[in-house]
Amino acid sequence: MSKIVAIDGPAGSGKGTIASIISKKCNLVNIDTGATYRCVALATIKNNLTLKDVDKIIELSSKIKIEFTNDNKVYLDDNDVTEEIRSKEVTKIVSPISSIVEVRKNMVKLQRKMAENNNVVMEGRDITTVVFPNANYKFYLDADIDTRADRRFKQYIEKGINMSLEEIKQNIEARDYNDMHKEMGSLTRCNDQIYIDSTNMTIDEVANTMINIINGGN
Ligand code: DC
Repeated sequence: MSKIVAIDGPAGSGKGTIASIISKKCNLVNIDTGATYRCVALATIKNNLTLKDVDKIIELSSKIKIEFTNDNKVYLDDNDVTEEIRSKEVTKIVSPISSIVEVRKNMVKLQRKMAENNNVVMEGRDITTVVFPNANYKFYLDADIDTRADRRFKQYIEKGINMSLEEIKQNIEARDYNDMHKEMGSLTRCNDQIYIDSTNMTIDEVANTMINIINGGN
């Protein structure tokens, strides 16, 4: 059976960075489930739909083709959208889109399929609770809001995305609320997750802590 390392946590907690390190060091396929919801959000924009067009968004989510490549690129209907799915416009609508139960059902199905026959590290909001509740290792990665906003701010500067620290913080707070209050697949903490607060930890410290647990458990 496949080995599954599941990581959940709020926006900006470092899941993406850490999952990428763990994937290389532990030879696991890296699956960023947030990117699947971002693809639905991008498809919504490209099809000139708004958040009110729920039925059409659900239909889209069942039809679009989403693929991840080994070099961490994301393809939507055969187009490379790796950068586009991180845009401000997508980021603003992705959380409400990910709250639509039927969209979630379609994405969960897809995410499980992506993990078939692979050893994976999968990160998101409901991986430890809904997608793979029986994962071999279940982590909840956290950090305080100011640290998370600051990390995103620095990432955006590197990518040339123009958003103020205050705007980023407000966006993260709104997403936190939304992500924690969903009808299905809410971000939740539970007893069988290994909780790591990365606020005062370096990336290497977090990655090594997790890798030690993963290796130690073999
Ligand atoms: O991790 P991210 O910021 O790229 O995720 C984008 C959005 O998708 C986020 O607001 C919450 C949602 N999401 C989700 O609901 N469930 C997941 N497993 C992953 C992400």
